[in-house]
Amino acid sequence: MIDVSKSKLERIDMLCSKERRLNVFIKRDDLIHEEVSGNKWRKLKYNIELCNSRKKEGILTFGGAFSNHLVATASACKETGIKAIGLVRGDELGRASNSTLQKCHSLGMQLVFVSREEYRLRNEKPYHESLSLDYPNYHIVEEGGANYYGMIGCQEIMNEVKEPIDHVFVSQGTSTTSCGILLSLNTDQLLHVIPALKGYKSLEEMKALIGKSGIETGWLNALLSQVEVLDEYHFGGYGKYTPELFEFIREFHKKTGIKLDPIYTGKAMFGMLSELKKSTYDNSSILFLHTGGLQGIEGVEKRSGITLF
Ligand SMILES: Cc1ncc(COP(=O)(O)O)c(C=O)c1O
Repeated sequence: MIDVSKSKLERIDMLCSKERRLNVFIKRDDLIHEEVSGNKWRKLKYNIELCNSRKKEGILTFGGAFSNHLVATASACKETGIKAIGLVRGDELGRASNSTLQKCHSLGMQLVFVSREEYRLRNEKPYHESLSLDYPNYHIVEEGGANYYGMIGCQEIMNEVKEPIDHVFVSQGTSTTSCGILLSLNTDQLLHVIPALKGYKSLEEMKALIGKSGIETGWLNALLSQVEVLDEYHFGGYGKYTPELFEFIREFHKKTGIKLDPIYTGKAMFGMLSELKKSTYDNSSILFLHTGGLQGIEGVEKRSGITLF
């Protein structure tokens, strides 16, 4: 098991304001583990438990060439003594293609490279059924750990926060993390989600994922009314960045010592700080969840030609 007690709650003094009675905290899930960092262990924990209780040999999951999720799965499976298979998008790739895939391989993950066409089927039930025939002893986990068990693991995050919190800000990719958090909020707490993807239908995706838990429609709608979608901080879309975003991440690191990544947490923090300038947040306590993502920075730096830190 991976120890989540390293995820401390830090007060960010430079963002707090006595006059505005504004308290800002960051929950450092990025400190949980070097490879199984941020929201990754949260999403994997119950999937690994299920794998063990069903007496499966390991986990089979999906990811792109630079996937944080693949590295995290490889590492978490190694630590918990089970096997891991990663189905990777792109049959032109190999295990030496980049540092992410090299790391997965060195952690003992079996890498299976599939064509982009085949990869498109990754969420289809018949495809999972055929994979279950090929790998009968493996528990299949959706890309990004985006399943019911992932969501339930993310439900534990807020239990560790002992400060009274009014607003929670979190980055969104598949919605798994934000849905877990939402399920654990009190009725007077608000959740602000910042999608990393352009045109992402946050509320629809959240409704579908939480709906899998079978909760009653009235309660589901009441939960969704606690969500605000901040969809103008994607910087052009998933995996896109601008010099302004890089500059923001560098400045934030200089001032706080905290590293953010340019795909998820950098955009989310930029969004939160832009929102906090509004007086709506006076007299309240704010929490930002650091969901990790630092493993992938090397790849971003290579692709962009820019060094972040
Ligand atoms: C670093 C990081 N932050 C945030 C997210 C978004 O989380 P979710 O996919 O649960 O919405 C991801 C994707 O898993 C991620 O890798």
